[in-house]
Amino acid sequence: MQKLTAVILVGGPGTRLQPLTDDRPKSVLPVLNKPFMEHFIAYLRQYGIEDIILTLSYLPDVIREYLGDGSRYGVHLTYCLEEEPLGTAGAVKNAEAYLGNTFFVLNGDVFTDMDLGDMLAFHRENKAKATISLTWVDDPSAFGVVETDSEKRVKQFIEKPPLAEATTNWINAGTYILEPEVLEYIPANTHYMFERGLFPHLLGTGAPVYGYPYRGYWLDMGTPEKYFSLNVDLLLSKVTGPLVSISGQNGIYYSQDAVIHPAAVMAAPVMIDGGSRIGQGVRIKGPVVIGRDCRLEDGASIENAVLWDNVTIGAGARLNQCIVSNNVTIGSNREVVNCVVTPSQTVPLLRQ
Ligand code: GDD
Ligand code: MG
Repeated sequence: MQKLTAVILVGGPGTRLQPLTDDRPKSVLPVLNKPFMEHFIAYLRQYGIEDIILTLSYLPDVIREYLGDGSRYGVHLTYCLEEEPLGTAGAVKNAEAYLGNTFFVLNGDVFTDMDLGDMLAFHRENKAKATISLTWVDDPSAFGVVETDSEKRVKQFIEKPPLAEATTNWINAGTYILEPEVLEYIPANTHYMFERGLFPHLLGTGAPVYGYPYRGYWLDMGTPEKYFSLNVDLLLSKVTGPLVSISGQNGIYYSQDAVIHPAAVMAAPVMIDGGSRIGQGVRIKGPVVIGRDCRLEDGASIENAVLWDNVTIGAGARLNQCIVSNNVTIGSNREVVNCVVTPSQTVPLLRQ
C-alpha cells in the first residue's frame, strides 16, 4: 500500500464542547474509554495513512502528551502549532512543508466509516484538484452546503446558509483530498477557511472540484449530545471502528482488573474499564460505559450513561441519560437524569 499523508484539524474555536472541555480539547474526549483521536488515527491507518500532521491551537500539550510521536499506533505524528487559530485552510498552509503529494485533510471531530481508499480512487478518476466528502442531513443549515451536478462536480459551496437558502441536503462531511497546488491559493500566516475562502475561490476559477457522496454512518461530535450519541451508537454497533471490540461476554465487556460483585445485575451493552468496582445489588442497564477506577456503591442504578474515570456513584443513587466527567462524586440516593456532570457544573444533556 502506498504511504499517504493526512492533516487533521484539531484546533480553532470549535475545539470546546462545554462543559466537558475545560481541561482537554474535544479531540481527546474518551470514546469507549479511549481518546477520540486514537480511534481517528486507527481509522486512517486502515487506509495506509501513516504520516499524520495534527494542527493544534487549543491546549496543544494535552494532545501531545496523549499521543506522543505516534509510534504506539504505528504512525508518525507531526504537530503544527498555531499561536492564534489560522482557520481550517490557514492551518493546512502552516503545514505546507510536509505536503508534497496528494494529501487528505480531515476535520478532527467527525466519526465515520467512510472508505477513504474509494474516495481516493474517485479523486484520481476525476482528476480533481479537490474532492470534498459529502453526507446527507435533515437540516443542512449548520453545515457547508454543497451542490453538485450529475457528474458529481461541485457547482456551489455555501457555508452555514439560512435553511431557506440551502439548495440541497448534501453537506460537507469534513474530509477532503487535495492536490498540493491548491496550497498556492491559501495566504500564509493569515486566518483563512476552506469553507468560506478556498473552496468558493477554486470554484470561481473553474478548477475541478468534486463531491464524493457517502450514505453510511457520519457524526460530527460538536455538542455533548452528539458526543453521547457516538458512544451509544458504538455500543449498540450502529457503527464500528478498528478499535472497537464489544463483542465479548454477550455485550458485557469488562477489564480483568474490574471488580464486579456477583449480585450486581447488568444488561448489555456495557463496557467497564480497569480498576472499577461495582457493588452489591448495583443495576446497570446498557448502553453504559464506565471508565477507570470508578466506584458504583451498593444498590446504585445506572442506565444509558457515559462515566469517565474516577467517578463515584453513591449507594442507592440513580442515574439515567448522563455523561459524568472525571473525579465526580454523586451522593448517595441522589437521582440524576439527563445531565452532563463535571466537578464544577451540572447542565442538561439533551434539550427537551
Ligand atoms: N488547526 C485548526 N485551526 N483547526 C481548526 C481551526 C483553526 O483555526 N478552526 C477549526 N478547526 C478544526 C476544528 O477543531 C474541527 O475539528 C474542524 O476544524 C471543523 O471545525 P468546527 O468548528 O467543528 O466546524 P463545524 O463543525 O461548525 O463546520 C465544519 O464541519 C462541518 C462538518 O462537520 C465545516 O467544515 C462545515 O462545512 C462542515 O459541514
Ligand atoms: Mg464540527
